[in-house]
Amino acid sequence: MELPMSGQKTIDLPGHWLLARLGKRVLRPGGRELTERMLSGAGLPGADVVELAPGLGITAMAVLNRKPASYVAVEFDDDAAALTRAAVGERGRAIQGEAAHTGLPDASADVVVGEGILTMQTDAHKAEVAREAYRMLRPGGRFAIHDMVLQDGIDDDTKSEVRQALNRSIKATVDPLRAAEWRQLLTEAGFRVDAVSFAPLLLLEPRRVIADEGLLRALRFAWNVVRDHDARERVLDMRNTFRKLWSSISVGVSRLSVRGR
Ligand SMILES: C[S@@+](CC[C@H](N)C(=O)[O-])C[C@H]1O[C@@H](n2cnc3c(N)ncnc32)[C@H](O)[C@@H]1O
Repeated sequence: MELPMSGQKTIDLPGHWLLARLGKRVLRPGGRELTERMLSGAGLPGADVVELAPGLGITAMAVLNRKPASYVAVEFDDDAAALTRAAVGERGRAIQGEAAHTGLPDASADVVVGEGILTMQTDAHKAEVAREAYRMLRPGGRFAIHDMVLQDGIDDDTKSEVRQALNRSIKATVDPLRAAEWRQLLTEAGFRVDAVSFAPLLLLEPRRVIADEGLLRALRFAWNVVRDHDARERVLDMRNTFRKLWSSISVGVSRLSVRGR
């Protein structure tokens, strides 16, 4: 099975698909540790779950291990949707589609999960995806998200510099909001913020890579990075960009619940 964008050159491949090509499987910014924190409070056992943007289907397995009643993933990229489909097998469904227009019925889910997706949308599109999650959820439903967060104190110029640095290095739309802006966007979509937890952006730090991928896969990833000049330049540039932004940016997981329905 093909990885997404397998025909594209290393130098202009979006960062997450470059990392996947090099053998990395965990593509969300806070790694597995934040995913576990996010999933453990989401009430997955027995729930009808929709995952937006499952990527390679790694969180899908963590969701399925918690015995939901059902699992459906909606992924924009055809190849990623196929990989998720293969990962979940008969235990769920993965459809190719746009997270803002899933085509899934109103009030049909107890939990919607979205990792590393909202940050990658324009601000208008973030709001559309949040409204779509709200539409799909039943009363009492939960929306669990995992995204990059700017420090509340940073000014607009710094915010735009951070966004430019991320977009240039990752070669994709990467538009984090300040914590207060996330809160506003999500409450305007109808959610109440129940829990938020932050961690530093360590995605490409060796200890985090080993924790996320396991020692063998981490070593294979490191070897793939070392032996390919273009890949090495890109990965080191992303890591250095993240390091330079440590004072402005972190990663957050939030659990939101449906208000007023
Ligand atoms: C950074 S990756 C995260 C993948 C996975 N959630 C993970 O954490 O490993 C972003 C994913 O979002 C998907 N994506 C981006 N925009 C989307 C959209 N509007 N609708 C559905 N999927 C989208 C991409 O194809 C990609 O699989």
